[in-house]
Amino acid sequence: MRLPAVLACLALVLSTVTVGAQRVVGYYGKTAGQCPDYPSFAPAKLPYELYTHLNFAFVMINDDGVVEMQHPEDEALYKELNALKLKKPSLKTTLTVGGWDMDMAHYSTMVSTPANRQKFIQSAMTYVRKYGFDGMDFDWDPSDKLRGGHSNDPENFVAFLKEMREAANKEKLKEGQERMILSIALPGGPFHGQYFNIPKLAQHVDWFNIMAYNLHGQWEDMVYCAAPLYDTAAHTKYNGYSVDNATKAMVPKSVSPMKFNLGLSLSGVTFTLKDKKKTSPGSPAQGPGREGCQEKGAMAYFEARKLADSLQIADVKSRAPDHFHRTVTQEPKMDPVGKCMYMVVNEDQWVGYDNPETFAMKMEYLSEVGFGGVSIWSMDSDSANHELTKSIHSSLSENFIQGAGLSKAGSGLATLDEGEQETTNGAASAKTIAGCAVKVMAAVALSIMLLA
Ligand SMILES: *[C@@H]1O[C@H](CO)[C@@H](O)[C@H](O)[C@H]1NC(C)=O
Repeated sequence: MRLPAVLACLALVLSTVTVGAQRVVGYYGKTAGQCPDYPSFAPAKLPYELYTHLNFAFVMINDDGVVEMQHPEDEALYKELNALKLKKPSLKTTLTVGGWDMDMAHYSTMVSTPANRQKFIQSAMTYVRKYGFDGMDFDWDPSDKLRGGHSNDPENFVAFLKEMREAANKEKLKEGQERMILSIALPGGPFHGQYFNIPKLAQHVDWFNIMAYNLHGQWEDMVYCAAPLYDTAAHTKYNGYSVDNATKAMVPKSVSPMKFNLGLSLSGVTFTLKDKKKTSPGSPAQGPGREGCQEKGAMAYFEARKLADSLQIADVKSRAPDHFHRTVTQEPKMDPVGKCMYMVVNEDQWVGYDNPETFAMKMEYLSEVGFGGVSIWSMDSDSANHELTKSIHSSLSENFIQGAGLSKAGSGLATLDEGEQETTNGAASAKTIAGCAVKVMAAVALSIMLLA
């Protein structure tokens, strides 16, 4: 065994230690309104080094069945977002088709005939390249009757993705271009999952983002975290909504879990308590919590964090209320089943949220399941120092480096960036790496013997 071969192997092993989880996808969507604490959300200010992919949310399908910009000011944002690739060449960007402003019946119509599909596909390919993106992400609940869905949406969606993939494969690439990335955002509630033919869709998309958040909220009359890890409402009418339930409902045995990213939300949920004395998860609620930086019923992490931090001031009277006259009246506790935080603000405002500690548990779950990464909605809700995103990042690296049985040397952000690999090659490269690892160990053993 020659040294150069061993070194090449060593480089390969080191460069792919994070082969387990490699994608950190960030959704660029505005969820927090204007408030004094709102961190700058200009694309140029994004912590792009923490992400492998950025999804611009959203673009729409218009009345003519082709791609259309949502707001005229988006064009400038596209430019600013894609300019980040000059600073980080491995960064990829995609456009997410969907959103609350779009008439979702257009999705149904678009996928319903071969002619409609081709018309959209051609417009999409042109649009993506025109603005310097690398692919498209599709956010739609097929057969959602409340939003104009049809019963044949599921099979038409498969036909659409198949044809979109064929068009992407046929595209004449310019220098430096790669094949387009195609992904799907999947709902995290078990209910809509039945309308996705995941094994078939998986043949045509690069990955799925499971939106395992906003699972509980203001439409319910009991307080629960929006994204519990396990089914904390198991014995109620709201059972079946958790990260674990979403995972089990969405990831079929026949599809590699590496094809999935676990969706994480940087926003918490708020409720108004019915009885100030009943605050544990499952207590009665009477509607959403009052509005803060986000709309009623939601709270950005940077708000929750600031409120919780004020508790560090020992003297209660010195704790200043925030901009919305809020102070914490019951300190944060962890939901023992949901593995998420909850606290009470101004006596009757219940807040459920995730922090670095609970995200670490989600990351552990992610590594057990073998997911290919995370998708984060939405990047604008983190604290100004990106605390939550950084915590996701470091738990990801830690879990997977430990999982690979290697030392932590060389871990961290750079490794995650450079370790990025095509998921479709996952199985083959894992084999090569295993082979290499054996070679490296043999070489190390041999040199120890020679030195002794
Ligand atoms: C949710 O998960 C729990 C725990 O694994 C399980 O008992 C329950 O049946 C699941 N609910 C649904 C609706 O899948």
